Amino acid sequence: MNENLEVIILAAGLGTRMKSKTIKILHRAAGRPIVDYVLDLAAELTQRRPVMVVGHQRDAVQQSVGDRARYAVQEEQLGTGHAVLQAAALVEADGIDGKRILVLSGDVPLTRAETLRRLLDEHARAGNALTLLTMKPDDPAMYGRIVRDDAGAVQRIVEAKDASDDEKRIGEVNAGIYVFDGEHLFDNLRNLKTDNAQKEYYLTDLLQVLRERGHRVGAVVAEPIEALGVNSRSELAQVESEIQRRVIAKLMSDGVTFRNPATVVIDSTVRIGADTVVYPFVTLEGTTTIGEGCVIDPGVHLMNVRVGDNVHLKTGTVADDAVIEDDANVGPYAHLRPGSHLGKHVKVGNFVETKKAVFGDGAKASHLSYIGDAEVGADVNIGAGTITCNYDGVHKHKTIIEDGAFIGSDTQLVAPVRVGRGAYVGAGSTITKDVPAESLALSRTPQRIVDGWARRKQKKSE
Ligand code: UD1
Ligand code: CA
Repeated sequence: MNENLEVIILAAGLGTRMKSKTIKILHRAAGRPIVDYVLDLAAELTQRRPVMVVGHQRDAVQQSVGDRARYAVQEEQLGTGHAVLQAAALVEADGIDGKRILVLSGDVPLTRAETLRRLLDEHARAGNALTLLTMKPDDPAMYGRIVRDDAGAVQRIVEAKDASDDEKRIGEVNAGIYVFDGEHLFDNLRNLKTDNAQKEYYLTDLLQVLRERGHRVGAVVAEPIEALGVNSRSELAQVESEIQRRVIAKLMSDGVTFRNPATVVIDSTVRIGADTVVYPFVTLEGTTTIGEGCVIDPGVHLMNVRVGDNVHLKTGTVADDAVIEDDANVGPYAHLRPGSHLGKHVKVGNFVETKKAVFGDGAKASHLSYIGDAEVGADVNIGAGTITCNYDGVHKHKTIIEDGAFIGSDTQLVAPVRVGRGAYVGAGSTITKDVPAESLALSRTPQRIVDGWARRKQKKSE
């Protein structure tokens, strides 16, 4: 942590190439707005809250970021130099001498804290007034080119739009991440001119200005992926897959097995315990946490689900806002809708749908059921094809099945209804009244046998 470090995050640009109504920094990658990753970086480096320069959609940005940042407004997007200058009042408020100022972009989420520490260390070691991050991407594209002198010292940055053909061939480019000595930043920004192709105030012009005033400037080279910005949907997809790759690499180093990591979609907010095995084509989103020793079969999709230890989620299980406790066994093809809570050792089998349903420890619904708005006691056994009729067309009603009850196959439980502790419901029953504890309820029509009926029918048709 660096007490004298201020971070400025540039975030006023809309990002027209996203072709979106939403500003680019609020697009989500691996479950979080991309600006959140930049805020995390700032928080790793300094306790001071970063200053975000906002412009386009600033209400939405401030609502999303909240008090994790302080805000400076750039009314018109007149260039990166102008943008940084808008942060001056906040950064200078408690003095500027001796401060280091790190400039980040809100749309560049993959930079590692180690890399920024390397930049800050080099800045201090070399006694620079400005140290910038550069990279050598496969295609230098529209990035600003780094012009070095014969001795290899950084001289100036030429924007692609202002570059000569020779300069365009330079492979080293500006990553858009800088550390400045506070006392040399804002006064020089106030003197910037807009004599360039875009008629903008270029932050990059400071490099030459500082050199001409006899200050040292330097550069640190980073991996191109760390400076990848989100300007288009294609870059958003690259950023997202890199974040997921890092999340999975970290989980593997913490003891999680992925049978085919490249096929797993995972949010950066997801937690998984050691010795859990994740099969291919699994999607894990939101606040999902999975305990230790679980098996997550192919095609499982979890959104905001809490899973305990030693749980087996079988193929095709979908769950949303649900809790699954230790040693439970779910699926294949089960659907746990919001408010489902399965206790320990619960079994919810194939083609079972649950909604707002609490299952006590050891309860089972093994096949083909709908259990909604229900309380299912411990060790209850729900037979195949059982349906809670919870909706009368206007209101939802509750079904309560007390501990140890046995619900025969193909039962309809017409809610509101209660089946008492240890009671039995015969298969094929339609239960419309409460069933007392330890009793048997049967509602099916008695079976009739008509002797020889089929033989007679056969004769008639001959
Ligand atoms: C800038 C650099 C370029 C570098 C590239 C790296 C300048 C002049 N050029 O290019 O050398 O290779 O970044 O990505 O700085 N922003 C504002 N207000 C503005 C303009 C920009 O807040 O008036 C913000 C944007 O929202 C973005 C960041 O500053 O977060 C960078 O702006 P962008 O237009 O993407 O950078 P370039 O001009 O392409
Ligand atoms: Ca620009």
